[in-house]
Order: sequence, then structure tokens, then C-alpha cells
Amino acid sequence: MLVVGAGECGTRAALALREEGYAGPVTLVGGEPGTPYERPPLSKAVLSGAADLTPLCPAERLAEAGVTHLAGVAATALDVTAHTLALADGRVLGYDRLLLATGARARPLPGALVLRNHADAVALRERLVPGARVGVVGGGFIGLEVAATAAGLGCAVTVVEAAPRLMARAVPERLAARAAARHVEAGIDVRCGTAVARLEPGRIVLTDGRVVEVDVVVAGIGSAPETALAEAAGIAVGNGILVDGAMATSAPDVFAAGDCCSFPHPLYGDRRLRLESWRAAQEQGVHAARAMLGTPGPYAAVPWFWSDQHDLSLQVAGLSGAATEEVVRLRPDGAELWFGLDAGRLVAVAGIGAGTAVARDVRIGEMLIARRATPDPAALTDPAAALKPLLRAPSPVG
Ligand code: APR
Repeated sequence: MLVVGAGECGTRAALALREEGYAGPVTLVGGEPGTPYERPPLSKAVLSGAADLTPLCPAERLAEAGVTHLAGVAATALDVTAHTLALADGRVLGYDRLLLATGARARPLPGALVLRNHADAVALRERLVPGARVGVVGGGFIGLEVAATAAGLGCAVTVVEAAPRLMARAVPERLAARAAARHVEAGIDVRCGTAVARLEPGRIVLTDGRVVEVDVVVAGIGSAPETALAEAAGIAVGNGILVDGAMATSAPDVFAAGDCCSFPHPLYGDRRLRLESWRAAQEQGVHAARAMLGTPGPYAAVPWFWSDQHDLSLQVAGLSGAATEEVVRLRPDGAELWFGLDAGRLVAVAGIGAGTAVARDVRIGEMLIARRATPDPAALTDPAAALKPLLRAPSPVG
């Protein structure tokens, strides 16, 4: 069993192969040096200097599980007929089953730093000195987490977002507005509806003609799936490596999972999704491991995302873009929940609040989405009505 990519997805898959009882050789190949690590803290505790890297598992766990981890070596070519993988150091490995967990890379903006891996975080951290003028291009999760961390370090931060509002890709408008107000309160200059015309040394020139003077520019303008290895091998690729519900690609014995893959989701009419999500990376890694050893049912976990910005935590379960109707619950503790429905069915829930305030309610919402529940909107809106009893209603999927 050969796993390409030692991020969240690939590492979980390698360990899961063993946990699922596979006794043969498991090799994990990763382009980055060192022990596999958690990416979410890179824009928060690692960037602020509050913590160093969090390993994905104790350093000895891979060895104990009998996983051969080849770190700091890129895979350069996959031959799906010969069942071989060539590495940058000249080695050629054979496989019975192979998993592509190659992830995604940050979309580059020449002249700007990006944040995707540990080396990026270290390079950026050196620039975030108190008083530094930091220009952040992109008001998505990455841009806003970097902005919040930089402001916390005493930098003067400007966020430039091309869309009319922040986090338009995944977060409902009202919750994004709430986050925007918090950024402004923290002294961040948030500019939406204007894109970057060009970067010049020490300045960002905006399309509306204004100029932002900066010491450093960071781009968080989205990411692109790492599909080059698959494409060169003749594997079908769309927005990501195309897989079925069992994470199988168009090539025999080759699977793909995590940020790099596009899969059909049964909860959303088998629409193809490519999720850039920490939790999906884990779950799909485990699902793919099971698929490599047998045939699991289709992957159907509810998409789930989170972001921490200042003292606020934001969580989204389901796909907010799939909603045609929305209802809001304003809780007395100041937390806010948003529910998205389509033809009466709950398809998304989002929440914003201090710390872990919304975690439990979003979790219940997630379970309701999984059951294709059709809750009474009045029960969702009323902050005095507990959400949990809604789970007792008969589920259309049993
Ligand atoms: N100028 C200004 N804004 C831009 C430009 C530009 N030239 N190009 C894109 N943007 C904006 C988009 O409108 C969008 O709001 O950048 C934002 C990018 O947001 P995302 O697509 O969510 O990507 P990003 O924040 O970079 O995160 C990449 O890493 O951790 C994950 O969850 C994260 O999956 C996400 C990925």
C-alpha cells in the first residue's frame, strides 16, 4: 500500500490501513521534511509564535504502526499500468494499491507571500513585527486568520477583498458581516469590492485607484488541487482528481482523497464537491483506506469547516450555497446561528460566537442535515427551544 502525500489525509490513511487490519507493507511518501503536522495552527498559534508545530501523531506512532515514512522526497511520476511510482531521488516503488493525497497549493500572487505549509508560516512570522504594515489580499479563511493574528501582534493590517463581502465562498452573509465588524473593531482596515491592480515595491495599487502602503503582502486568494501527478498518469481530472463514492479514480487500484479530489455527494444530489477541509481530509483518508482494503459504502459525511478569528469561532456544516431559504437564531449569549433550507430540508447550518459557543448547536445541525431533516423553521429560530429534540422527529432516511 502506497500513500502519496503526508498531510492530514495521507497520514490518517496510512495509519487507518493498519488499524483496519492490513498486515503488509505501508509506505507514506511526502514532499515536506519532518514529522507530518497539523496545518490549521499555521495561521494562528504557529504564526503568532504561541506554539510550535503540532505533530499529526506522536513521532514514534508511524514507526510503531510499521508505516515507512519517506519524508522530504517528492513523487515525480506514476505509471498506472506498471503499478510503479518514481521518486525525485531516483527510487521507483511498486504498489498493489496507491492513494493520492496530494492536497492543494496556494494560488500564487507574484510579490506576495502565501501560507500553506510550515516553511511559509516561518517566513511570514519573521515579517510580522509590531508596527509592520501588512497588506492581506483575499478575505477568505486564510486571509482573515492571518489578518487577525497579525493585528494581535501589533501590525497595522489592511485586508483587500475583490468580492463585495468577506468569506463569500462558504459563509452566510450575516455571519460574515459579524466577523467583519470584529476585524474593524480590532483596528483592521477592511476593503471589500476592490481587487489588486498590481503590486509595486512597498505598495498595493487597487483597481479603484487607491494605494495601500505596505511592508509585507500576504495573499490568501484560494487554492488549487495538486493534480499534476494524476494528470500526467492519464487519470481523469476535473476540478480535482475525479473519484467515485469509494474514492476510486479512473485508474485501477489508484484512489484519491482530501483536498486534491472531486467526489459525488449523495446529500447534495450526487453533485461533485471538492472540499478544502481539515475534517474531510481526515474522514476521506480513513474512507479511502477502507476502500483500498475492500468496498465501503459511498462517502457521505456532512461537509464541515471552521475558522478562528480574534476571539470568535465560526463553524459551517453542510453547504450554505445549497440553501434557498434561511432562518436565524440569536442567542442570549451573543452567539448567532444561521440555518439554510432547501424545499423545507435543512442543508446547511453556520454559527459564530466566542470560543466554542456554537460547537454543540452546529453539531446537532450537522446531524439533522445528515438525516435530511425537515425541521419547523420556528423551532430553529426560537433561542428558548432546544435543538436536540428535533433529532427525535422521524427521519426521511430512517
Ligand atoms: N484580490 C482580492 N481578493 C481576491 C483576489 C484578488 N486578486 N482573488 C481572490 N480573492 C478573494 C476571493 O474573492 C475569496 O474571497 O480571496 C478569497 C479567497 O478565499 P478562499 O477561496 O476561501 O481561499 P483561502 O482563504 O486562500 O483559503 C484556501 O485553505 O485552509 C484552507 O479553508 C481554507 O480551503 C481554504 C484554503
